[in-house]
Amino acid sequence: MLLTTVRSYRLEAFRAAAERAGIQVIAGVDLPDELAGQWPDTLPLTFTDVEESTRRIVDYAASNPLSAVMAVDDSGSLIAAAAGHVLGLPHNEPAAAEAARDKAIMRRQLQAGGVAVPWFHLFSTSDDPAEVAALVPYPCVVKPTNLNGSRGVMRADTPGQLVEVIGRLSRLISRESVEPRPYLVESFLPGFEVALEGILDNGELTVLALFDKPDPLDGPFFEETIYITPSRLPTATQAAIEFTTAAAARALGLRVGPIHAEMRINDDGVWILEVAGRSIGGLCSQTLRFGVGDTLEELIVRQAAGLPLGDTHQRDGASGVMMIPIPQAGLFRGVAGIEDALAVPLIDSIEITARTNYPIVPLPEGDSYLGFIFARGDSPENVEAALREAHGRLSFTIDPLLSVLSDGTTMGSVNFYG
Ligand SMILES: Nc1ncnc2c1ncn2[C@@H]1O[C@H](COP(=O)(O)OP(=O)(O)O)[C@@H](O)[C@H]1O
Ligand SMILES: [Mg+2]
Repeated sequence: MLLTTVRSYRLEAFRAAAERAGIQVIAGVDLPDELAGQWPDTLPLTFTDVEESTRRIVDYAASNPLSAVMAVDDSGSLIAAAAGHVLGLPHNEPAAAEAARDKAIMRRQLQAGGVAVPWFHLFSTSDDPAEVAALVPYPCVVKPTNLNGSRGVMRADTPGQLVEVIGRLSRLISRESVEPRPYLVESFLPGFEVALEGILDNGELTVLALFDKPDPLDGPFFEETIYITPSRLPTATQAAIEFTTAAAARALGLRVGPIHAEMRINDDGVWILEVAGRSIGGLCSQTLRFGVGDTLEELIVRQAAGLPLGDTHQRDGASGVMMIPIPQAGLFRGVAGIEDALAVPLIDSIEITARTNYPIVPLPEGDSYLGFIFARGDSPENVEAALREAHGRLSFTIDPLLSVLSDGTTMGSVNFYG
């Protein structure tokens, strides 16, 4: 059973992988019961109610035996852990699943497990920002404890800037709630950033791919752009990255299934930004092919179903993806130059995921990209150059909009972007 939300980009890739691997799947989807009819092969669940969702899965499994319950993203990981536990299937302990998606618990567990972490402190939107600003080191980064895709993550170099970004973060994370919301402040870790895709089996880590992120990520916001694999870092650094990832997974208690770890490397060594108990998000996994052409999801579903993982070596010399950032808030009108961009050698495909005539919002408030550019080739350098060239050939039309929901303001207030 694959657990997911209706908005996830990930379900289709996992369904296709299961089909190719000859594994039957049912989706456990966070859905109101009334809508379930529109979703074939689906068990409707309520992700905010872990106990009830677990009961439904266990009931379902009584007449339809399951060999695995797996979350395709962070949203269902607590339920996957709880259901796996009750059904006696390989699973991560619920506490580990929780630590892997709550940044505050993660920092504490990493520290307790002896893994290097930056200075951090948990605050709440009810704390006085001026008092917070007096307590923390600079430069620092504020972040919500439970969002992803860099939403709400902002750098501040001075107390004045920090007060400002705390206000901005508070508007973002308090939108649906009057309750105080938690957020972290961490010291800013300079350095080169990488992302590691791995899979755990009984606590043993197998590295599937290491991505370099060649664009500098120095803030004030942290939009992801280019991911390139294999990494160009020296072998010894790559070994240290693997070692640190394994230590971090151990510290969190993660033992089975996919992990996605993000790290920064500087003169002081390898620093974990985070380790999630899931595979890479968005459409990025499309860059990866293993053995004779298996997808990342095929490896993951095979392992979950108790089958051999197969060949975990990457097939291509190099590959990469560019997540196309949203440059400004507005109404997305369309994109020109796709043919030209596709004509760049090594470019495999371009997927524009933003919907025409819909409002788009950039980071730190936004939660999406304009689309993805994929490339494959002989070397990381050439793949990176191709992605940049293709991106340069695309031009996006974004009409300024009065009062797009940027910067935490609501529709109706007057903000002009353009
Ligand atoms: N302490 C930090 N120092 C420097 N950069 C950071 C720090 N924390 C986060 N970042 C940057 O922000 C990005 C997103 O933060 P992260 O903690 O990974 O949250 P998310 O779940 O949104 O990905 C990171 O990939 C990194 O570029
Ligand atoms: Mg991250």
